[in-house]
Order: sequence, then C-alpha cells, then structure tokens
Amino acid sequence: MEPLGNLSLLTIGWIDGRMSDAVWVEGRPERMSCSALVPVPLIHVTPPVIAVVGGGQLARMMAPAAAELGVHLRVLVESPGTSAAQVVTDAPVGAASEEATIRALIAPPGGQDAADVLTFEHEHVPNALLTDLIEHGTPVRPGPHALVAAQDKIVMRTRLGELGVPCPRWRALPSTVDGGRAALTEFLAEVGGEAVVKLARGGYDGKGVRVVSGADEADDWLVAASEGGPPVLVEEKAPFRRELSALVARRPSGEVRTWPVVESIQRDGVCAEVVAPAPDLSDDVAAQAREIAVAVAEGLDVTGVLAVELFEVPSDQSDPGGPTTVLVNELAMRPHNSGHWTIDGSVTSQFEQHLRAVLDLPLGSTDPVAPWTVMVNVLGSTREELTDALPELLERFDTARVNLYGKGIRPGRKLGHVNVSGTDLDEVRAAARAAAALLMGDDDGGRAYSTGARAESAVPVAGPAETKENAR
Ligand SMILES: Nc1ncnc2c1ncn2[C@@H]1O[C@H](COP(=O)(O)OP(=O)(O)O)[C@@H](O)[C@H]1O
Ligand SMILES: [Mg+2]
Repeated sequence: MEPLGNLSLLTIGWIDGRMSDAVWVEGRPERMSCSALVPVPLIHVTPPVIAVVGGGQLARMMAPAAAELGVHLRVLVESPGTSAAQVVTDAPVGAASEEATIRALIAPPGGQDAADVLTFEHEHVPNALLTDLIEHGTPVRPGPHALVAAQDKIVMRTRLGELGVPCPRWRALPSTVDGGRAALTEFLAEVGGEAVVKLARGGYDGKGVRVVSGADEADDWLVAASEGGPPVLVEEKAPFRRELSALVARRPSGEVRTWPVVESIQRDGVCAEVVAPAPDLSDDVAAQAREIAVAVAEGLDVTGVLAVELFEVPSDQSDPGGPTTVLVNELAMRPHNSGHWTIDGSVTSQFEQHLRAVLDLPLGSTDPVAPWTVMVNVLGSTREELTDALPELLERFDTARVNLYGKGIRPGRKLGHVNVSGTDLDEVRAAARAAAALLMGDDDGGRAYSTGARAESAVPVAGPAETKENAR
C-alpha cells in the first residue's frame, strides 16, 4: 500500500462488474480502523484495456509487460486452462471464429470497461468482422487489411511482390487436381526439379509445407483445395545458407523500431534455436533485412510487432560461397518465436513493444543488453513435469532465464524456452542448449555444461557442436 501524502490507496476492485473508483483513506494503513474508510474518488483508475485474441504462450508472455505498464489485458482463450488463462485474470473462454465472442471480448456483457484496442496472438479471425469493428469505433491492430497478408501466403507473396520485396519465385496452383498438377509440373521444370509446396492458409510450424519433386506429390492438398480447402502455392526451394528473422514494431502514428537481425534454426519445420544477433552477418545484409522489415511494416500498414522470416542466400547462385542477400519467407503480425530472446536480451521486449505499439505509445529502445543472447526452445520432454528440472537447472545455470508456458507435455510441443545472454557466443549457446536439454529430460545436457559460481567448472567440457541439441 503506497501512502500518498496523508492518503493511502486501499483498494481498487470490481463492483457489479465495473471497475470501482479508487478507495482512498486518510492516514497510514497501520493506524487505520475500519471505520476510517472513506471512499474518496480522488483518482478514477481506468487503465487502458487491451483485448487479445488467443490464449497461448504469446498472450501469456504479454501479461508481465501489461502488468508493468499498468494496462489491463483481456484475453480470449480457447479453454479455461490454456497457457495465458493460467496467468491472466480476465480470460473469457470462446472461439475466435465466433462473432458474438469477439464482440463480447471488446464490450463484455457484464459491463466491464470496453477494450480500447483489439490485437492478436494468432491471425485466425474473420476479417469482415474486424472491418465492422473498426467502422464502429474499435481500433484493431494490426488491421484486417494488413493481417490478411499474414493469414494467406498467396496474398502475402502478391503484396510483397507489389512492394518490390525480394521473395523466392512462386506460383499459385489452380485448385483442381489436373490444373494443379499441370502447373506444378511446369514450375518444377522451371526451377530444376525440386520445389516447396505450401497451403496458403492455416499452416504453422512446418505443417502445411512440403518439399516435392514430383507433380503428384501435392494431390491430397489439391483435392482438398478443389473441395473448398485452403488454396495451394508452390515456391522455388531457396538455396539458403541459413534462416534469419527481422523483427520490427510500428505504432499507428508512424514510429518504427527494429531489433538486431537474428539467426533462427529450425528442426522439422519448427524453430529450435535463435541467436541474436545473427553471427557473422555482414552489415550490408543486416541493414537490408531491417530495411525490408520497415518497408513491409509501412507498405502493409502494420501496427504492432511484425516478424519477417528471411532466407540468407548467395547473391550469385554460381558463387555459393560468395556475398549473400536475403529473400522473404513469410510474415507474422504479432510477437514471434524469433523474438523471445528480447525478453531478456533487449532493453524492450517484443511483448512490451507490441502493447506499446497497439496503444500508440512511444516505442522503447531495441538495443541488446549483451553482445549475445541465445534462445533455445523446449520442444517436448520426457519428464513428468518440466518444473522437476528446476532444482538442478537453476543450481547449475545461474545465467539461464527460464520461461515455461504451463502447457501439457506432448512430443515436439513448444513448452517453453531458455534465454542466456553473455559475451562469449560459444559459452552462451552451450549453456542455453544444455539448460533446455535438461528441461526436455536429457540429463546429459545438464552434465555437459554448467555456468555460475556454484558449478564445479564454468568451462564447457563439451563444445557446442557436441552438446546434444534436442532430447526428443
Ligand atoms: N521456399 C522455401 N525454400 C526452402 N525452404 C523453405 C521454403 N519455404 C519454407 N521453407 C522451410 O520450411 C519452414 C517452414 O515454412 P514456412 O513457410 O515458414 O511455414 P510455417 O508457416 O509453418 O512457419 C521454413 O522455416 C523453412 O525452413
Ligand atoms: Mg515460418
């Protein structure tokens, strides 16, 4: 309880479903009796309310930032126990596809304060409804005109092409088996026999992405497309040296900030590890990636955080070891796995920045707080409970920043991540990998490396290359 002059703020609560006025009392709390309670509406506390669609780990990780900024988060969750529902008190349950649910998220029937802005942790919300909400005065950030480019990979490629942003060669396939096969045959011949076929909508974590070398290898998707399922596109298989990600935040009044460009390492189509900044990235390519992110954010009028997944490819295919350039893989208009390092490795995390941006508040510094930060995902675990690993992990890795999402354990599922920051990349990476391996149930990971004064040795006994990368 913080005394203010001779007044103390006793409580702010919910009365009949509405936030009450602050209740101020005279004198210091320890000297008060109940009869001294005087409700004095000196300050009416109505913090901004941000409504978020989606109750997974991204919404969960917005909660600490919201608490620090003093803004109220109302999160639409898929079921009562979701990752976000465990930590957000105002978490109505419902389906994002239902109009009445989204309307109630913004203006709850119980009379709680209406949301000041609607934002998302996933892109799967009907756009017609979002347009209607905007017309009736609710800011939607990012707006549906931008969001569609993150919902649909054909729209995305089309828009990026219009903006002059470099992408792999691509083509939308006709939504019939015969037409789709014919177009795929032609495309495979053009690009040299191998290509990447993708579902335009609904894919994530590599589901909905398939490398093909025969025209009949996408038949199932073409059949589904012909029956009203998601359309299908095909892309040249980018000869990438590695995958990068450029993260940017933009607020409605136009301010834009980019974070350092990172390297992201996928396994089985799922992000496994992120190194910030991307090691040995030339200044030119880093600047190009950041410029692309800004161009996309501005060109598509994105508000909030935008992640641009990139491929670093040789500028000249006949010189694979020579200078590089980037191609855009895809866009995400929300905080992104490649930005989790910012929670501990940057002055302003992507989650706080997203909240600032959608509220049109000044954006924070994106400077890194250490030369290197490595984030390693916890993908599945052989443990009964991830928290069983904490006593050993916290003992051995005192630089590790553990973030667990409260999700049930399933093979390969994103259950949490570990960030480690420091000055020596090999050590930072080895510690992050080993700590994450411990969470995944691999005790060798823990033994291979330790940090901190309590550990027997701060020197890695196994270099990063020998450290087990994934305990699955
Ligand atoms: N055109 C491409 N060339 C080479 N690899 C690709 C291409 N498109 C996707 N991939 C690989 O597949 C992964 C998942 O594809 P992406 O389009 O990002 O789908 P998702 O929506 O599942 O993340 C990428 O991170 C990359 O490793
Ligand atoms: Mg992707």
